[in-house]
Amino acid sequence: MAKNTLSITDNRTGKTYELPVTDDTIKAIDLRPLKFDDTDFGLMSYDPAFTNTASCRSQITFIDGDRGILWYRGYPIEQLAEMSTFPETAYLLLHGELPTQAEYEQWIYEITHHTFLHENVKKLVEGFRYDAHPMGMLVSTLAALSTFYPESKEVRDPEVRRKQIYRLIAKTPTLAAFAYRHSRGLPYVQPDNDLSYAGNFLNMLFRMSEVSYEPNPVLEKALDVLFILHADHEQNCSANAMRSVGSSLADPYCSSAAAAAALYGPLHGGANEAVLRMLHEIGTVKNVPKFIEKVKTGEGTRLMGFGHRIYKNYDPRAKIIKQIADQVFEVMGRNPLLDIALELERIALQDDYFVKRKLYPNVDFYSGIIYQAMGFPVEMFPVLFAIGRMPGWLAQWQEMLLDAEQKIARPRQVYTGHKQRDYLPLERRGGVPEPERKPARAAT
Ligand code: CMC
Repeated sequence: MAKNTLSITDNRTGKTYELPVTDDTIKAIDLRPLKFDDTDFGLMSYDPAFTNTASCRSQITFIDGDRGILWYRGYPIEQLAEMSTFPETAYLLLHGELPTQAEYEQWIYEITHHTFLHENVKKLVEGFRYDAHPMGMLVSTLAALSTFYPESKEVRDPEVRRKQIYRLIAKTPTLAAFAYRHSRGLPYVQPDNDLSYAGNFLNMLFRMSEVSYEPNPVLEKALDVLFILHADHEQNCSANAMRSVGSSLADPYCSSAAAAAALYGPLHGGANEAVLRMLHEIGTVKNVPKFIEKVKTGEGTRLMGFGHRIYKNYDPRAKIIKQIADQVFEVMGRNPLLDIALELERIALQDDYFVKRKLYPNVDFYSGIIYQAMGFPVEMFPVLFAIGRMPGWLAQWQEMLLDAEQKIARPRQVYTGHKQRDYLPLERRGGVPEPERKPARAAT
């Protein structure tokens, strides 16, 4: 029987080493004994951007990028989108199993009764400029929650963790809605705990003078499914930030603020916003071929909402989003940007440049079009992503804390800077003008 090992011959010394292979991986630390002499530190692996390095063992989310498969805890995303709800999916991600009826009721109670914010958080939100980006507000207010719940530092205590998980899942939509209302100059709407998770969020965003707000059931369902689709995506940039910051035992508010900051970038959760800006810039269907040419020659931007580090096939989330788009358009009217998006997709999927590089629409390609049709301004798109992703971040964080193999995240580097050199005082450094000499003082 073939051995589950890897033999490596170090041609610098002629020595051969046998490294165990577990789960199709070798441990980078097993390379350390490969030294060319006793003074050598030992071999390391070099992997900028972690393109081929597993940083953890995880049981939360599985992606097969070649086949376009996504499972949460083993359940296909298509089934969860069709049959589950976002709160139930959040429970699944965090607990590993779908809840029983009693567990579900308790969970719903907890995540709806922690939705209120301390009045001082409201004051904090009021302090932002009228045009502050809501994602900047979300990052800041998530971190600020840490000051309201100092006990959250006790991250090794399962009870403390449980409470902060309830709070973060419950309060993130409230923070997001307050940020939105602030940017519109509208009074903040308090949570309505009788509504569903998505319904309450719509209430806090859009309620005006109604005595009680009744969310449109189609939009409520669409938002719930969008949250499910965004709930986790294994070791993406923001989950990695959550784990990395959390590994120093920072509290979960600061860790999730770091994760939200990572999400904000246009290559990650900020891509949905970038897609909409791109579609507006293209303007009409007839400009699509010219735009695609500019992407290919590198003159323009990338085709935002296309490509993925893991998926080398159609992102399964994008397929589901395309289906719910029609339901939303039936209620809100068709978003004319859809035609531009469909034409971009049609051309890109048959163009050699995109085919060769296996670039397909990702989750962000169509989500922005739906969000816009639902009445969200583009700046809110990454915030919506963050609400959906919060249970995933928390599940990743908790798994990291409970994993005996994990320590504080601290990558190595290959130092390419100067060898040791001696400090030169300012006046002896080249290129620095001689200090102006003061005229000698005349003798008095
Ligand atoms: N448009 C044009 N060319 C692209 C694109 C794109 N969207 N994405 C990748 N490429 C090209 C890239 O130029 C490179 O070509 P070459 O081999 O000639 O240099 C090749 O494809 C490989 O790209 P890469 O940058 O090495 O791939 P990556 O795995 O590092 O990046 C990505 C993945 C998502 C950052 C990238 O595809 C991208 O920038 N896409 C646009 C932004 C976007 O939609 N992001 C949302 C990702 S999904 C939501 C989430 O989970 O965050």
